[in-house]
Amino acid sequence: MRLVASELLESREILPGQWLQSFHAPSLANGSRAGQFVHVRTGDYSGLVLRRPFSINTADAATGVITIHYRTIGRGTEWFTRLRPGDSIDMLGPLGRPFEVDPRSRHLLLIAGGLGMAGIRYLADEAIRDGRQVTLLFGAASARDVYPSSLLPDEVEYVIATDDGSVGHRGFVTELVPEYEAWADQAFACGPSGMLGALARLAVGRRERMGVARLGRKRGGGREPAAGSPAARRKAFLQVSMEQNMGCAVGACLGCVVMATSGTPQRVCREGPVFASDEINWEAGW
Ligand SMILES: Cc1cc2nc3c(=O)[nH]c(=O)nc-3n(C[C@H](O)[C@H](O)[C@H](O)COP(=O)(O)OP(=O)(O)OC[C@H]3O[C@@H](n4cnc5c(N)ncnc54)[C@H](O)[C@@H]3O)c2cc1C
Ligand code: FES
Repeated sequence: MRLVASELLESREILPGQWLQSFHAPSLANGSRAGQFVHVRTGDYSGLVLRRPFSINTADAATGVITIHYRTIGRGTEWFTRLRPGDSIDMLGPLGRPFEVDPRSRHLLLIAGGLGMAGIRYLADEAIRDGRQVTLLFGAASARDVYPSSLLPDEVEYVIATDDGSVGHRGFVTELVPEYEAWADQAFACGPSGMLGALARLAVGRRERMGVARLGRKRGGGREPAAGSPAARRKAFLQVSMEQNMGCAVGACLGCVVMATSGTPQRVCREGPVFASDEINWEAGW
């Protein structure tokens, strides 16, 4: 984890109220992995100076550039939109635990709901770079909210669902998943917690529906890896990236806790934001 002064290179509104910003931050671009986030110092018009968490949307070690993709929702994100190229802000990161791809997985299913695209986008780059096939299912309210395909690598199969049917499948993105569950070796999701909970329930039923051999069965003599470990995430069919309001983002304030099935509270900023879907108690209502 480093505190990095990052220079804004480019800022553009890619969808109504959604911005893509690139920053020159070589040490973050080099040291980060998909699923991690940065805690960015923002000012706001009340004079408050606070940090806000944002997923690392993309990172390019060769150019030293990282991007964040955010929606303007309040004072901090509004303040961001006023930044101009050449302005410098400080970022703490990379923070949190990344997605874990099993080395044997060839087919990755990525599922994003709305702004969840920002949490999953980087994984598409990593997977393509490593020679895997990627299908990305994206859900939005309407055509005007659909993430532009031009911002994705050409190799990604991009499938869209909209609530109103204005483009792609009419209905929830979760309804597309059963079509891909036999193809996918692993799935990764980011989006609203209702969507993640629905996907977690689908993942539980998948093994029974498909009769699928679990990855990792032949390794370790059937021993289960420790809950919360990278090995446990790698072995899970579905990993989810969670969002919670955050205070410190370094594990000290307990402001970001969700409940695990084990009964142990998990800090999204330290034990997450990526979890195996079966680690989370989706009924706990944190
Ligand atoms: C690990 C992590 C990664 C994130 N990545 C992204 C990202 O890539 N892009 C993005 O747009 N947002 C992301 N968020 C959410 C983002 O941090 C908040 O939207 C942002 O902090 C809001 O700041 P603000 O000052 O504009 O809004 P505030 O004035 O602080 O809040 C405005 C409204 O937004 C709500 N809100 C604030 N934080 C969150 C949150 N974390 N989740 C849901 N609602 C919230 C508040 O309750 C309030 O209603 C992420 C959050 C986490 C925890
Ligand atoms: S935000 Fe403080 S413990 Fe996670």
